[in-house]
Amino acid sequence: MGTLEILSGYRNDLSYGCSFQTEKFMLEHAIMTQIICIANQKGGVGKTTTAINLAAAFALSNQKTLLVDCDPQANATTGIGINKATLETTLYHGMIGAAPLSSIIVNSDIDGLKVIPSRVELTGFEVEMMASPSREKILKKLLYELDDSFEYILIDCPPSLSLLTLNAMTAADFILIPLQSEFYALEGLGQLLQTIKRIKENLNPNLKISGILLTMFDRRTNLSFQVAENAEKYFKDLIFKTKIPRNVRLSEAPSFGKPIILYDRSSAGAKSYLELAEEMLNAG
Ligand SMILES: Nc1ncnc2c1ncn2[C@@H]1O[C@H](COP(=O)(O)OP(=O)(O)O)[C@@H](O)[C@H]1O
Ligand SMILES: [Mg+2]
Repeated sequence: MGTLEILSGYRNDLSYGCSFQTEKFMLEHAIMTQIICIANQKGGVGKTTTAINLAAAFALSNQKTLLVDCDPQANATTGIGINKATLETTLYHGMIGAAPLSSIIVNSDIDGLKVIPSRVELTGFEVEMMASPSREKILKKLLYELDDSFEYILIDCPPSLSLLTLNAMTAADFILIPLQSEFYALEGLGQLLQTIKRIKENLNPNLKISGILLTMFDRRTNLSFQVAENAEKYFKDLIFKTKIPRNVRLSEAPSFGKPIILYDRSSAGAKSYLELAEEMLNAG
């Protein structure tokens, strides 16, 4: 069996078979907070860019939003304009129980968008918590304390299937998978889908795929269209209608500590993330 056939098998496992109880729970839950983790163990596929800009787009659509940076590299933290050096505490301190949740949430330049920042000390979480029996549920327990303060919580994951990513997938209602429009895009997706399946079976039965997002889409290349065609063939309705174009403004914005909507609102990148937020809001 080729990679694509294997992937299409997972698709059926993951997107259907919701029991009535699960759907009822999700309906109730959807009215309150939607927790979405942005994951793909490949680096450089657009996870952080999506986390920052989708969070900003939700907030500007009047949705109270929290961006949680779950990557020790802290690119989402710097990209949204937070100076790590001035922080007393970060996600790490919340996760190890050394600081109350309220003290690790900080403001961003956008009203309605708050951030739980990260920093390099988060790497210590993996080592220190490895022996803890409920080590995958620590982020979930931490975020429970928020009650209904936010409509959306977006979690930016590190480029691995590490304990931090497992925590994000256990805490989340949905996973959003960015897929870079390049030749090897689908390689490694099987491993990710298998991990999601295991999490559903063991840690978080309510986890669903919110969608697969094609990023760095280049209309000038056949390759981008081929990747989209293959992905649509096997994942059908799981692929977001919105595609994120390759857009240089998107790669410039983080060095100014700004989401694209504040950096260049008229750019194709800004429009695409606003469109994605609208697509997701309309889907409920
Ligand atoms: N749509 C895009 N167009 C152009 N550059 C992009 C786009 N999305 C991401 N990038 C750039 O690609 C690199 C990797 O993106 P990033 O979001 O950091 O990926 P990940 O978090 O998956 O590692 C960054 O330099 C980012 O600025
Ligand atoms: Mg990243």
